[in-house]
Amino acid sequence: MVTSKDKTPDIKFDYNNMMSAYIGEEQGITYDELRMTRNAALDAYSYFRLNRGTGWMGWAELPYNQDEIVKDILRTAKIVRRNCEAFVVLGIGGSALGPMAVFQALCHLRHNELGKRQRKAPKFYVEDNVDPERMASLLDILDLDKTVFNVITKSGSTSETMSQYLIIMNMLKARYGDKAAEHIIATTDAQKGNLVKLAEKEGFKTYVVPDGVGGRFSELCPVGLLPAAVLGIDIKEMLRGARQMDRHCRRSDFKSNPALVAAALSVISMKKGKNISVMMPYADSLKLMADWYCQLWAESLGKAVDLNGNTVNAGQTPVKALGVTDQHSQIQLYTEGPFDKVVTFIAVEKYRSEVQIPGGCEDFPNVSFLSGHTLNELITAEMDATEYALTKNHRPNAKIILPEVNANTIGQLMFFFMMQTAYAGKMLNIDTFNQPGVEEGKNATYALLGRKGYEEKAAELNSRPVKSEDFIV
Ligand code: PA5
Repeated sequence: MVTSKDKTPDIKFDYNNMMSAYIGEEQGITYDELRMTRNAALDAYSYFRLNRGTGWMGWAELPYNQDEIVKDILRTAKIVRRNCEAFVVLGIGGSALGPMAVFQALCHLRHNELGKRQRKAPKFYVEDNVDPERMASLLDILDLDKTVFNVITKSGSTSETMSQYLIIMNMLKARYGDKAAEHIIATTDAQKGNLVKLAEKEGFKTYVVPDGVGGRFSELCPVGLLPAAVLGIDIKEMLRGARQMDRHCRRSDFKSNPALVAAALSVISMKKGKNISVMMPYADSLKLMADWYCQLWAESLGKAVDLNGNTVNAGQTPVKALGVTDQHSQIQLYTEGPFDKVVTFIAVEKYRSEVQIPGGCEDFPNVSFLSGHTLNELITAEMDATEYALTKNHRPNAKIILPEVNANTIGQLMFFFMMQTAYAGKMLNIDTFNQPGVEEGKNATYALLGRKGYEEKAAELNSRPVKSEDFIV
C-alpha cells in the first residue's frame, strides 16, 4: 500500500568507514572480502524471501497484516487516554524494551513531568524488573483509580511479569472487586500460557501476540502498538515506515539492500575478531533504542551451536553508548584500545528543537567561540569529530542517518535492525529466533521457587558444587 505519506525521506546506512579504503587494509573490509561474502548474503536473502511470514518470521508481515487490529487498538487507546492518568506496562525483555524505546523516541523527553494538558496522554511507566524498591516506589505514586496496567508476556508464564501481575491484581481486587478487570489489559499468546487463561477467567480486554512473533521482534504488533497508541504516537505511520524499509530490504542487489549489506559487514567483522558492536546514537531520544538493539542483537545471535549442531559460540557483544555523553567516558577505549569493536553511530539530521548558544564571556575567546552556534551544530560537530578520530585510528565505524526522529523513521529503523539481525543469523547458520540461554535461567528460577514440574531442575541445581569460603573475602 503506497500512499503520499510514504514520501517521508528514507533513513540511510553509510558504511564508508568500514572499508579498507578509509581505515586501512589491516582493519578495514576490502572489496574482495565483500565479494566473497556476497553469495552467503544472497543465500540469506533468498531464504528470507521464501520463508518470511512463516515459522518464527511472522514478524516480517506485521507491517502489512494488522489493519483490523490497528483499528481495535486505536479504539482502546482513545478510551484509555480519555480516562487515565497513568498507563503501566508490566513486562520484561522483548515485552518491555520496544515500548520503552518508542516512548523515549517519540514522546516529549520529560513526558511524565509535564502537566496533563501539555502531555495529552497518560503518564507512562514500564516495570521491567522485580526490584522490590522499584515496585514499592511505583505503588507510592500511582492513583489506582486512574491507572490501567498492560500485562505483556508472550509465554504467559515469565516469573517477573506474573509476580507483578499478582501484586497488582491483588490490590485491584481488594479495591474494586469484580471491576478490577477494567484496570487490566493483557497482551499474550492466543492459546499458550497462563495469562490467556487468566484473561478469559477474569474478563480482561486481551490482545494477541501473533504466531511467529518472538519477544524481541514484537514491537510492531500489539506489544508495542498499544502502548504507543495510548501515548498518542501515530502507529499507522510507524507501520508505514516499516513497509518503506521493507521495500529496500527486498532488493536483491546485495549492495543496495541496506539491511543485507549491514548484516554482511557485521558477519565479516565478527570473522575478523571484532566481537563487540557499539551502538551510539547522537540523540537522547534514541538512547533506549540502543538498549532495544542490544537485546535484539545479543539474544538473536549469541548461540552455542549452529543449525548443524556444531559448537560455534557465535555472537557479537552489543554495547550501548550515547553521543556526546559517552565521548567523555568510553571513546578513549574505542579510539585506542583493542581492535575488537565496530562502532555504529545513529545520526539525526534535523532535531525537533533548536537551541541557540548565546553571547557572553567575550573576554574568554576559548569560551566565546561557542557563541552564535547552536547546540544542534555542536552535537553534529562532535559526532563528526568522533567519527574522524575513530577513522584516523583505523577503527571501523558506520553511520545510520535519520532525516529526523518521527514515527515513520522509527518504524524504518526498527525494521532495518530486525532485518539485519535475521540476515546475519542466517549467514552465521544459527537459530536467530530461539533463546535457550534465557530459558535456562527462567527454568532455574521456577525450580528455585518450587514450581511444580521443575523437580528435576531443582535436583540439578541442588547438586551444583558448594561454593568455597576460600574464594569469598
Ligand atoms: O525476546 C525474547 O523472547 C525474550 O526476551 C522475551 O521477550 C522475554 O524473556 C519475556 O518473555 P515473555 O514475553 O514470554 O514474558
